[in-house]
Amino acid sequence: MFGYKSYTIFGWVIAAVLAVLGLRWGAEILFHTETPAKLGLAIELPEDTAPPEAEAPAELDLGTLLAAADVTKGEKLAKQCAACHNFDNGGANAIGPNLWGIPGSAIARRAGFAYSPAFREYAADRVWSYEELNTFLAAPSKTAPGTAMSFAGLKKPTDRADLMAYLNSVTAAPVAFPAPALPPAAAEGEVAPDAAAPAEETAPGADEGVAVPATGGEEVPAAPATPGAGTPPGQ
Ligand code: HEC
Repeated sequence: MFGYKSYTIFGWVIAAVLAVLGLRWGAEILFHTETPAKLGLAIELPEDTAPPEAEAPAELDLGTLLAAADVTKGEKLAKQCAACHNFDNGGANAIGPNLWGIPGSAIARRAGFAYSPAFREYAADRVWSYEELNTFLAAPSKTAPGTAMSFAGLKKPTDRADLMAYLNSVTAAPVAFPAPALPPAAAEGEVAPDAAAPAEETAPGADEGVAVPATGGEEVPAAPATPGAGTPPGQ
């Protein structure tokens, strides 16, 4: 009786296990057929489209920022600089050099100021363009490593623009701001943002075989083409 009942029980147990496995297989098959459908829906959202378009406005070009700059705000911001600099015509050097007439002037050439060797090296023979000022003011010690100017930098692009507008008001020779990049910047030289897009787009263009010109990436004024082409590398 021991043997017979045991085998019977085993038989039922095995049958039950097989039944459970069978159900799970069945379930898995069902789920498998569902899963691709869900993924398909998720992928259909052109998620790649959002970031490029969202980033573009954040990176306003310098010309646009300067065109909207506020000299009065810049003067207030310059109070942070006043501990080390003065902005008067003929004003003395202090901890930092006098800052009258900076835009367009040679970097590190204020008479009677002892610049750090690091800053002189950074200056080379260049002048204070707005691009240069913008980069320097954002992070002085990154732009001119080893500079004696202990100032963290102005993180906000609009603050830098305001401050540069102020600098351009404390000078005998104001320097015109760079032209704002126009939205249809196709003809303009300000192609910095656009330049990035075609670069990404060149490789995908080949895979996709869509109407996007695989090689002629330069002339792609049609913004929608870029996100479309950007999708394939992600997949
Ligand atoms: C803690 C002192 C300090 C503060 C604050 C400071 N600077 Fe300076 N700045 C310096 C020193 C020192 C130098 C010279 C850098 C060197 O020799 O390494 C300098 C150099 C400069 C130069 C280069 C001038 C030239 O002759 O080419 C500019 C422009 C400048 N600062 C702008 C600013 C502005 C704008 C602010 C405020 C937003 C500011 N600095 C805040 C100390 C300071």
